[in-house]
Amino acid sequence: MVGFISFVTLAIALAAPVTAFPAHVSLAGLSREELDMAMSGFGPYSTPPPPPGPLEFGGTKLVNDAEHPFMDPKDTDIRGPCPALNTLANHGYINRNGIDTPSNIVRAAMEGFNMHNNLAKFTCYSAFVVNGNMVTDLLSIGEKSAKTGPDPPQPAIVGGLNTHNVFEGDSSMTRADFYDNGDVESFNETLFQGFIEYSYRFGGGRYNLTAAGEYRLKRTLDGIQNNPTFTIASPRLFSAYSESVNPINLWVDGRQDDGQLRLDHARSFFEAARFPDDFHRPARPMTADNEEVVLAAHPIEPGGNINGVNTYTVDPNSPRLPDKCSIYEHHVNYTLRTLYPNPTGNLLDAIRANVHYFYTSVQERGCTEIYPYGRVEDGENNAYYASPDFPEVDLPDYGTFPYPPVDLPEYCDTPAPAAVEAAPETAAEAAPEALAT
Ligand code: HEM
Ligand SMILES: *[C@@H]1O[C@H](CO)[C@@H](O)[C@H](O)[C@H]1NC(C)=O
Ligand SMILES: *[C@@H]1O[C@H](CO)[C@@H](O)[C@H](O)[C@H]1NC(C)=O
Ligand SMILES: *[C@@H]1O[C@H](CO)[C@@H](O)[C@H](O)[C@H]1NC(C)=O
Repeated sequence: MVGFISFVTLAIALAAPVTAFPAHVSLAGLSREELDMAMSGFGPYSTPPPPPGPLEFGGTKLVNDAEHPFMDPKDTDIRGPCPALNTLANHGYINRNGIDTPSNIVRAAMEGFNMHNNLAKFTCYSAFVVNGNMVTDLLSIGEKSAKTGPDPPQPAIVGGLNTHNVFEGDSSMTRADFYDNGDVESFNETLFQGFIEYSYRFGGGRYNLTAAGEYRLKRTLDGIQNNPTFTIASPRLFSAYSESVNPINLWVDGRQDDGQLRLDHARSFFEAARFPDDFHRPARPMTADNEEVVLAAHPIEPGGNINGVNTYTVDPNSPRLPDKCSIYEHHVNYTLRTLYPNPTGNLLDAIRANVHYFYTSVQERGCTEIYPYGRVEDGENNAYYASPDFPEVDLPDYGTFPYPPVDLPEYCDTPAPAAVEAAPETAAEAAPEALAT
C-alpha cells in the first residue's frame, strides 16, 4: 500500500520538474462564471470557514476508542509523509481517503493528539496554503490528487504534502530526503534503527529531548554530508524542529506524561500509523516550544549546501527558529507569493482568508498581521503589489556547519541490539500502570 503510493509519487516527481506539474484543469484566464462552472462538482465557491478554536475539554482521554477503530487504508486512499496525519486518517479522525479540509485537520490534531490550537493552525495552514487547493478548501495528505479539485494557474502546485521544499523537506527522522530517490513518504527501517539507537544511547531506551537533540544533529549532518541539495532554511527549519519534539509532546500517553516516548509506541506511530492500544492523548494542549531545547543542544543557523555536499552555508534571508513572526511573514512573502504571484477572483478571496487563518496561529505571540494580498474586506480590489520589494542581500560571508563547532556523536548503521526489539514487545502487552516504568 505504502509502496504503491511511493511508486506513484516517484513517477510524478521524475516525470516533471516541480514548476511544470501537470495541471488537471487550468483555471487561468477563465471568467468568474466559467470559474464557478469549472468548480461544479465541488459546490459553489464560498469563503473557507475559519478553523476551530481550542478544545472545550483539553485533558487526557482515550482516543483509540470504539468510534475510531484502526482500519488499513484502501489502495485508493492517500497517505503521506506525516505519520500523525496518517494515523488520524487510519482511525477516521480525518477522512480515511486522505483528503480533507484544513479546519477538520486542525480539529483532528487537537482531538486526537491534544496538539495546541496555535500549533495545529500554524502547522496546518503553513502546509495547506502551499500544498492544498484553497478554492475547494481541500488538502491531500500525500501525493497530488485530482480529488482536491481543479488546479489554479501555475506556478501554483497544489501537490499535496509530498511536494518537496514548500513544506516537506530534508533530514526527516524516518523518511529519506527527496534527493535520495524521490520517495519522501515511506517509512524507512534503516533510518528508524538510527532513531532507536540514539534513543538507547541518549534516552536510556526512550526517545526524549536529549535523544532528540542528538538525533536532529545526526540527521542534519547526514544531509550535509550526503545530499548536495540539502537545505534546512525556512520553512523546513520550523517543521524539522517541531517534528523532532512532536513525538515527545504528542505521542507520550497522557497518563505517563513524562516526556519519555516508549519505542514500541514510536514504531506504532511512525511505521504502522496506528494508535497503540488504550492510547490516551496528552494531558494538556501541547505546543512545540521545547524545540528550543533541541536547538540549544547543537545550535545551527538556517541554510543549506550551496555547491555540493559539505558546503553548508547560512542563508541570511531565512528567519531563525525562535522568530515565529518572521517565519509566518517569510512563508507568506516568499514561499506563498512565489506560487501565487497574481491571484484574482475566488482564488484571491480564498488566499486572503487562509493567510488570515494562518496569522491567527501567531497572534497570541504578538505578531503583526501582514496583507501582501490585501484584506478580505477589500473585495475585488487586489491591493497586492506586483513587484517584490525584498531587500537585496549580500552573499553569505560566514560560517559553515556545524555552527559553532560541536563534538560529533559516534554513529554506525548497525541495527540496535536484539534487546531493543524484545523490550518494547513486552511493554506493549503491559497494563497501563506499567507505562510509567
Ligand atoms: C496539523 C497538521 C499537520 C500537518 C499539515 C503536518 C504535516 C507534516 C508533513 C508535511 C511532514 C513531512 C515533513 C518532512 O519530514 O519532510 C510531517 C512530518 C511529521 N509530522 Fe506532521 N503534520 C501535522 C500534524 C502533526 C501532528 C499532530 C504530529 C504529532 C502528533 C505530527 C508529527 C510529525 C512527525 C513526528 C513528523 C516527522 C516524520 C519524520 O521525520 O520521519 N504532525 N508532518
Ligand atoms: C533508507 O535510508 C537509508 C539511509 O539513508 C538509505 O540508504 C536507503 O536507500 C533507504 N531505503 C529506501 C528503501 O529508501
Ligand atoms: C533522557 O534520558 C536520559 C537517560 O535516562 C537521561 O539521562 C536524560 O536526562 C533524559 N533527558 C530528558 C530531557 O528527559
Ligand atoms: C513581508 O511583507 C510585508 C509587506 O506586506 C513587510 O512589511 C514585511 O517586512 C515582510 N516580511 C518579511 C519577513 O519579508
